[in-house]
Amino acid sequence: MRVVATIAALQAARRARGAGDTGFVPTMGALHEGHLALVRRARAENSRAWVSIFVNPAQFNDPGDLQRYPRPLEADLEILRAAGTDLVFLPHEQDVYPDGYRYRVAENDLSLKFCGARRPGHFDGVLTVVLKLLLLTRPQRAYFGEKDFQQLRLVDGMVRAFFLDTEIIPCAVMREPDGLAMSSRNRLLTREERARAPAFHRLLARSVAERQSTDAVAADLEQEGFTVEYIEDHDGRRLAAVRLGTVRLIDNVVGAAGRDSAPAPE
Ligand code: PAJ
Repeated sequence: MRVVATIAALQAARRARGAGDTGFVPTMGALHEGHLALVRRARAENSRAWVSIFVNPAQFNDPGDLQRYPRPLEADLEILRAAGTDLVFLPHEQDVYPDGYRYRVAENDLSLKFCGARRPGHFDGVLTVVLKLLLLTRPQRAYFGEKDFQQLRLVDGMVRAFFLDTEIIPCAVMREPDGLAMSSRNRLLTREERARAPAFHRLLARSVAERQSTDAVAADLEQEGFTVEYIEDHDGRRLAAVRLGTVRLIDNVVGAAGRDSAPAPE
């Protein structure tokens, strides 16, 4: 596994790579089975799997959140090596943003809703870094989790809007055995919060199965000790964000009769 830290070295590796397809998985590290499912798929469906680890400051609107984001780099590299990753890109902030983030991608509709309404500028930060990473790595396929459903839809829209030659591959949400969606932030939960957390997915899934309104499931979640940021139906999914103590959790389930399209099968 090659570990590449500069833009020049990454561009050289890209030019030198032989025939065959490249599958790319952008991440912010603190890797878990959710990330690994993407890496394994990238490897299985392409000649080589490239992964980036970059905690992108442009997408954090809360400096505290950026500061405490977990960065277990050595463990991450070991996990990626074991998964058969061919190249890991670990760029430095000043190299990714040599212009100080003066140039950026702006999306003016979906990025302002749901998570975007509570985190101003978040999705422009995501789209900007993903555009840079896709242009640097030029993969045939890039893998994104449905865990971050709004992000997946926005990246897919950007790739179409700018005619990028990369296919965006959606990957199913990976969950803990108790249903909690895997997330790097789960390790920030206290023991007591971790014990409570599975109720988030359980109540969300039940609300769709029982055709409960978003208001009703919000009330149930508050009852269980969650602070609800939003619960909304969009694109055949029920999307939600809650807070448990200081930790923000997001999840989504298939099957809500959203206004935008018919429910999709799981
Ligand atoms: P990060 O949160 O590290 O996630 C990297 C990728 O892993 C994303 O596509 C995310 O949807 C996917 N992922 C995370 N948890 C998952 C789970 N439980 N099941 C399936 N997929 C999961 O998302 C980001 O980083 C950043 O915004 C990034 C795209 C790298 C841009 O900075």
